[in-house]
Amino acid sequence: MKNTRQTPLFPNQTRLLHGGDYNPEQWPAEIVAQDADLMDQANVNSVTLGVFSWCALEPSEGVFDFDWLDRMMDSQSEHGRYVGLATPTAAVPAWMGTKYPEILRVNPDGLRNRQGNRVNTSYASKVFQEKAAIIVSKLAERYTGHPALAFWHISNEYGGCCYGPESILAFREWLEHKYESLENLNRCWWTEFWSHRYSAWDQIFPPGAPLGETSIHGLTLDWKRFSSDQIISFLTMERCILKSYGPDIPVTTNLMGTYAGVDGFKISKHLDFVSWDSYPWFHGKPSELDGWIRTAFHHDLNRSMGDGRSFLLMECTPSSSNWYPTMKLKRPGQHTLEGLQAIAHGSDGVQYFQWRQSAGSLEQFHGAVVGHNNRSDARVFCDVKELGAKLNQLDGLVGGWVHTKVAIVFDWEVLWAIQTCLEYRSKTPQYTETILSFYRSLFDISIAVDIVDSTCDLTDYRVVIAPMLFMLRNGIEQRLASFVSNGGCLVTTYLSGWVDDSTKAYLGGIPEPLRSVLGIVPEEWDELYPDETNTILWDRRQFTFTTYSERILNVSATVLATFENDFYAGEPALTVNQYGSGKAYYIASRNEAAFTSTLMQQVMSEHGILPISNASHPVGVSIRTRNTPTETYVFVLNYANTTAEISLDEPNLQDAYTGELATVQITLEAFGSRVFRKPLSYC
Ligand code: GAL
Repeated sequence: MKNTRQTPLFPNQTRLLHGGDYNPEQWPAEIVAQDADLMDQANVNSVTLGVFSWCALEPSEGVFDFDWLDRMMDSQSEHGRYVGLATPTAAVPAWMGTKYPEILRVNPDGLRNRQGNRVNTSYASKVFQEKAAIIVSKLAERYTGHPALAFWHISNEYGGCCYGPESILAFREWLEHKYESLENLNRCWWTEFWSHRYSAWDQIFPPGAPLGETSIHGLTLDWKRFSSDQIISFLTMERCILKSYGPDIPVTTNLMGTYAGVDGFKISKHLDFVSWDSYPWFHGKPSELDGWIRTAFHHDLNRSMGDGRSFLLMECTPSSSNWYPTMKLKRPGQHTLEGLQAIAHGSDGVQYFQWRQSAGSLEQFHGAVVGHNNRSDARVFCDVKELGAKLNQLDGLVGGWVHTKVAIVFDWEVLWAIQTCLEYRSKTPQYTETILSFYRSLFDISIAVDIVDSTCDLTDYRVVIAPMLFMLRNGIEQRLASFVSNGGCLVTTYLSGWVDDSTKAYLGGIPEPLRSVLGIVPEEWDELYPDETNTILWDRRQFTFTTYSERILNVSATVLATFENDFYAGEPALTVNQYGSGKAYYIASRNEAAFTSTLMQQVMSEHGILPISNASHPVGVSIRTRNTPTETYVFVLNYANTTAEISLDEPNLQDAYTGELATVQITLEAFGSRVFRKPLSYC
């Protein structure tokens, strides 16, 4: 059941968090003393301490120094700041990596890394597990119950995998646990192909090595699952220690959007709240709407991974990132806009990497609240201060929820299965981009959505959109069938229902009950050349498609659109099928955006799903709402680099900062934003 209650990140949270990563261990006492005052000036009420602090905490093996952290925790408490205290396991001290080289990662070719960098250890290493358990226990023992401790921040951006001997053994154990017998494994992996049948567990090695096995899809998918599970089991090990000292102190870890190395929905089940790091301008320009829409998608994904509870924007940059292809500064207004976007989509705070720009090493030129110039009148510092002041006035929103009736399925295992089984076609599937194209069409018409995976409960939704549901797992086909039969609407596309959860093709095409839900059986699919297009005709309108089309036979569904050209001209391109009290649409080709928008508008209006707002505004303006038990907060966000005139079309909107009643017409400057309040109301 999706959350519709006020759920703060931690029980005593009364304020939206504003702050971020702070590394006082890098700085002399006089700078640290200045920081306390500067943080007050910048309206910073939260800090993340201890990320990457292992060598300061355990300078040599078994010798611990907590004095600096004691002082820091006490000082944060005196200043009334929340602390997210990190476990330092994302980077190991030099003494550890050199004394115990077996903890370091091995690459697919079998070469072991040297000590250095970060996230460079094997989650399967027994020595690393022991060393991590010791430092985590020491931290938990010392700081559980400290008044500043708000939550635990476990490690940092877990990721990657190791091909060393301990990982290989752990993989075989994982497989034995899963399959119980080699006979079963061979059947699921279809190993008679090329005579690859295994007769002993120790014949199995990870896939991916250039000189190794790459042809067994079941093996490749299981390795991805195993690697994700390794991360989760390491996190769980840390979590259990922390919880044994203080069961009520929430734990989180900072996730990375749609990063493929860990199943976001699965790991989130082990977190008390979800948090993530948003660096959106790596892929695009801050002046382009698409980047803002992608960021909105990721916020919605993170909120949904926590079953709709509020999440935390754990990191974003206060200005630029040194690893962006172009280190563009944020334009005036963009900083506040980025922060408010996160809040509007369900974050209970805005945190930065980093508070103070480091003087040396890899991230010395990464953006920070306090730059090398150490000035509190610098533009970035002032932007941060201004956002902090605004957030202070939105504290009533803490724990608020976003109301949605529509879900899009984005499933990590489906992504992995597509990457694995369609490896030869690696450039064409574009699974995540396809998901985003549906998200974008709903964003454009102001419809709020959740992002779910194959394990999620669908009963609260009216429409579920499941593009390219290539692999069926966890009984999703049964749950989709009961969802539709009970009156829901399913929209799915080409490349759905091809393989089971061991990557074996369904013989006879899409299996029951999905086949009856859709009322179609696709027979074969055609791939278009990169420069080739074709068209479909729907309701006397022509739409272009690229890349994929499927030939559908045995149609009991109603045909709404047909292909126009090629030998399959006249055959179904879009169908709809009544099933129980609901209906299911099937889209057989990769159509242009105008098609997706038209279909989404039709489906939303058929199912009584209203836009978040009826305001009239130019493209680039987004209106979002977030609820508390008594009020709805309305965010008006101008993502465009031009002034926008907006006609609000709603009475009773009160400016959230000044309390004044809003005028009907408002003007937002480029990258401008406003927040209003009104009595609780659902669209
Ligand atoms: C994050 C990471 C931080 C910092 C930041 C720089 O991914 O968690 O430690 O490296 O990137 O953008």
